[in-house]
Amino acid sequence: MHSKEDLRYEDCEETARWLLDRIQSPPDIAIICGSGLGLLAETLSDPKTFDYTQIPHFPASTVAGHSGQLVFGTLQGKSCVCMKGRFHVYEGYPLWKVTFPIRVFKLLGVKLLMVTNAAGSLCNTYRPGDLMIIRDHINMPGLAALSPLRGPNDERFGPRFPSLWDTYDHQLRTTALEIASKIGQADLIHEGVYCMVGGPNFESVAEARFLQKLGADAVGMSTAPEVVVAKHCGMRVFGLSLITNRVAQAYERQETVNHSSVLEVGKQRSQLLQAIITDLVRSVQFENHQEPAA
Ligand code: HPA
Repeated sequence: MHSKEDLRYEDCEETARWLLDRIQSPPDIAIICGSGLGLLAETLSDPKTFDYTQIPHFPASTVAGHSGQLVFGTLQGKSCVCMKGRFHVYEGYPLWKVTFPIRVFKLLGVKLLMVTNAAGSLCNTYRPGDLMIIRDHINMPGLAALSPLRGPNDERFGPRFPSLWDTYDHQLRTTALEIASKIGQADLIHEGVYCMVGGPNFESVAEARFLQKLGADAVGMSTAPEVVVAKHCGMRVFGLSLITNRVAQAYERQETVNHSSVLEVGKQRSQLLQAIITDLVRSVQFENHQEPAA
């Protein structure tokens, strides 16, 4: 039995139908724009924009720097939808709500999810302003039973026990590295492990040391739930973190981090991030075109 406070397939269908009635062509690619990275959405041609507050069953974004709009349009000839602003667990949303848009995207026919986020560096060789292609993730809330797949499994989305073995698309990761080299930015792009924590506080020194020992290269407060849901429902996934700060791993040296400095680095690097995502979108080939399910 589902309560009103659970995920309902019918709500996802209703939202998908509402959007399909209002857009030109269903999207193949969904792009989540992280903190300060929403400018990408402005590069779509023939844009059609919806505030989250207009869309049936959509949660509302509450964080500064996350504007709360879905923008449909074309990028490099591909039909895309951009999320300007995502939902975080720290805002108080249950995980099924944080990931509600991903399931709607699935019903719209999306085959590839591209996620961007801001993250703190746990790796000595990463500097603020660098980019990290996500090779894999550590989902800290997920390991402690806070998974977006917790609860009754709806087989129409995917299997009860999905594998995460090959979640972050190998081919797209290789192409992104090639793109960065081609535009002369090979020295500031890395490939690494993203660790999701619940936030909203930044990490203590002991926590940062702990995460680094676990094998995390960067840490942030988003992404893993959306990626798990995308993988569950059979989408390809690509993830790119913008390193906005170093995470303090010693008491002696002060490393300041706050939300506005995170947004500031986002602004400085938005062009580069945009260039890589745009070129990656151009390179994507879809094997066979499927009609949307809703
Ligand atoms: N920690 C967690 N999330 C973040 C950070 C950080 O240092 N920087 C940007 N998002």
